[in-house]
Amino acid sequence: TESDFMCANQSYGFMFFFVVLRYAHGDLSYSVQEELKRGSVIGNIAKDLGLDVGRLSARKARIDLDGGDRQFCGINLRSGELFVAERIDREEHCADKPSCVLKFDLLLENPLELHRVSLQVQDINDNSPAFPKDVIKLDIRESAVKGARYRINAAQDADIGKNSVESYTLQDNAHFVFNIQTTSAGSKYVELVLEKELDREEQQEMKLLLTAVDGGSPHRSGTVVIHVIVLDANDNAPVFTESVYTAKLPENSPLKAVVIVVSASDADEGLNGDVTYEFSRLSDKSQKLFSLDQKTGEIIVNGAIDYEEGSRYEVIVEAKDGYGLSSEAKVIIDITDVNDNAPVIYLKSLTNPTPESVSPGTEVGIINVQDRDSENNKQVRCSIQQGVPFKLVPSIKNYYSLVTTEQLDRERVSDYNITITATDEGSPPLSSSKTVQLSVADINDNPPVFEEQSYSAYVTENNKPGSTLCSVTARDPDWRQNGTVIYSLLPGEVNGAPVSSYLSVNGDTGMIHAVRSFDYEQFRSFKVHVMARDNGSPPLSSNVTVSVFVSDVNDNSPQILYPTPEGNSFMTELVPKAAHGGSLVSKVIAVDADSGQNAWLSYQIVKSTDPGLFTIGLHSGEIRTQRDISESDNMKQNLIVSVKDNGQPPLSATCAMYLLISDNLAEVPELKDISYDEKNSKLTSYLIIALVSVSTIFLTFIIIVMGVRFCRRRKPRLLFDGAVAIPSAYLPPNYADVDGTGTLRSTYNYDAYLTTGSRTSDFKFVSSYNDNTLPADQTLKKSLTDFSEAFGDCDSSPEVGTVALLQVANYVF
Ligand SMILES: *[C@@H]1O[C@H](CO)[C@@H](O)[C@H](O)[C@H]1NC(C)=O
Ligand SMILES: *[C@@H]1O[C@H](CO)[C@@H](O)[C@H](O)[C@H]1NC(C)=O
Ligand SMILES: *[C@@H]1O[C@H](CO)[C@@H](O)[C@H](O)[C@H]1NC(C)=O
Repeated sequence: TESDFMCANQSYGFMFFFVVLRYAHGDLSYSVQEELKRGSVIGNIAKDLGLDVGRLSARKARIDLDGGDRQFCGINLRSGELFVAERIDREEHCADKPSCVLKFDLLLENPLELHRVSLQVQDINDNSPAFPKDVIKLDIRESAVKGARYRINAAQDADIGKNSVESYTLQDNAHFVFNIQTTSAGSKYVELVLEKELDREEQQEMKLLLTAVDGGSPHRSGTVVIHVIVLDANDNAPVFTESVYTAKLPENSPLKAVVIVVSASDADEGLNGDVTYEFSRLSDKSQKLFSLDQKTGEIIVNGAIDYEEGSRYEVIVEAKDGYGLSSEAKVIIDITDVNDNAPVIYLKSLTNPTPESVSPGTEVGIINVQDRDSENNKQVRCSIQQGVPFKLVPSIKNYYSLVTTEQLDRERVSDYNITITATDEGSPPLSSSKTVQLSVADINDNPPVFEEQSYSAYVTENNKPGSTLCSVTARDPDWRQNGTVIYSLLPGEVNGAPVSSYLSVNGDTGMIHAVRSFDYEQFRSFKVHVMARDNGSPPLSSNVTVSVFVSDVNDNSPQILYPTPEGNSFMTELVPKAAHGGSLVSKVIAVDADSGQNAWLSYQIVKSTDPGLFTIGLHSGEIRTQRDISESDNMKQNLIVSVKDNGQPPLSATCAMYLLISDNLAEVPELKDISYDEKNSKLTSYLIIALVSVSTIFLTFIIIVMGVRFCRRRKPRLLFDGAVAIPSAYLPPNYADVDGTGTLRSTYNYDAYLTTGSRTSDFKFVSSYNDNTLPADQTLKKSLTDFSEAFGDCDSSPEVGTVALLQVANYVF
């Protein structure tokens, strides 16, 4: 797959060109004595690399030892000092290698940075020279000549250089001197050289103390006792077939497997020719792994051979004959690697949880892969499972960055289990995998979204304040408070008042309640905006329109415009005596503020003086004679008309209509019977005196006006049509559907009288209404201008007087 990469050393250089790496070239090298106390400071890494000490902690600076889990060194994140974290024993790590270097990585993140640190471990003289055995037995023939040499295995000192064995001292004696030799294989041994011949009869045995001293300061020493036994017969030492044997041994070889067979031959016969083998000088490690068959010289596997623990062993084998004469050979055993270690994946760092806002290509983790094998067995390929928005980018050495490949979205996937697999190149290859759990942290990136584009609420008028109209719902997929939705009304005005005086919204549930009772006659619908906001910071919001429709309820009774129901002046209709059946007499005009059926009015005569005489149009309100008027009919006719709307339940209003069957108001002796109002009689009688005086003058003017009018011979025009002129301002604003009921457009041919309701004085205000074709709307629009126009046709001065007089009369009456 794409994300497969070679982890091997060879590709590092190649990677550096392509991967965004912050590789600092500064390799650091420190030197430290072994066996230092814990906490001893080795050096200051921050200073040496020029790093900002304050950022070490944030950058997660740490020390990673190659392929091991022990931490010999630590880094003080506050001071940047490298210190000893665990006992460092040079002999453990490097045995007899002349130079002992521990290598580790200094790792920094953000950006990822790697520095190689080498730690040179210096030897201290902490080991004494030691001989393989405490006692060395030497059998020497008394016939041995001066100059004969006897080999003795050298003392070993685990320290190196100056601290290893430097000199030997042999106890003073009469027969031997001491000599140091080096074999062809490079190992040292010491010899005793016979200086003065032995005499068995004189001395059968002797014990000599040999001391080895190292060059350290202070000196350390080790001793061995050389036990010399003087023999009678001649002897030859055994001789190995080779001075150095080499063997290759694959790791994990089974127990008892033969590594190599050494063999030495002895020229002597019998007991003197019997050669036995044994290890001389054997490290503790080797001792556990190998054993030697004393008789056959076979070196046998005696423990678990692990290449990773040690790849080369050197052992010295000694061959001895029956009399104790011996010689040595070196055996070098090279262990060959077997692919027995699967790669190990270490998660070195992980940004968990990772915010969903990180841009593609952001490093969220660092992974390290190690394989303890060598060569091909150590080359590792890493891959990441398909279908996750992450990839592995090879970084420094065997480090990989875990990088996002696309924008994360917590609302879609909130957790990832990322499986990383590492496979080595051995045969058969070994692999291992590791699952990294990564959570995505929320960012407030989704505004609340209303479930609907707009909401409508229907409410009948006169609702109770606090009643629920509807509810809005918005969803926000973010986490916790980032997804908690709070509702509120956006400020605004309805009919000039703030929306909050009409509606309220429950912030938690989105329920919308009416704050007041609505009146359909005031407004039929209005719109408000509701906002949904989440609780994130910064918060996100969206808004939606809620339309409220108020529906009508029959809560307005019909309103009668004509005849005017109240006031102390009322209209009396004059019915000509000659009126035929079906003549239009008057009209009841009513309106209803409701709408539709609630405003559909019907008229009915509920009570009348003569039930057979008048009839009313059910919907027109027109009052007509039902038959011809006869002489016998009562002159004064009263009608009570009821106006009813069509609502459920219906509402109604009534009015009284006064009709006078007469051709002339003057014929009527008194109208007082018509009047209901008796209370004002006293007042009016006081006014009579004033009236009589004024009316005389007034009538004179009227006669003048009439005279002027007639002299003009013009077609008479409407002078005053108060009976039907309904000022438009009188009607409610939404008064639109009164056609046929609220207007008067039929042919009228009667006189209108303004009566005062006074007992004794009547005033006839005359105009012949001949303009039959006058359309209704014009009638309705008649205004004062029309009057002045009408008067204006005559001389100006009397007209002014007339109007003034009219006003006086109105005032008086
Ligand atoms: C990830 O693994 C954990 C534990 O193995 C499991 O509980 C979880 O459901 C897994 N998540 C996904 C997204 O597969
Ligand atoms: C909400 O989003 C903000 C950033 O927009 C983030 O810092 C915070 O952690 C989020 N809160 C939760 C509860 O996830
Ligand atoms: C309401 O939403 C519209 C778009 O949906 C936006 O343009 C407007 O600014 C919002 N109004 C307020 C007051 O947030």
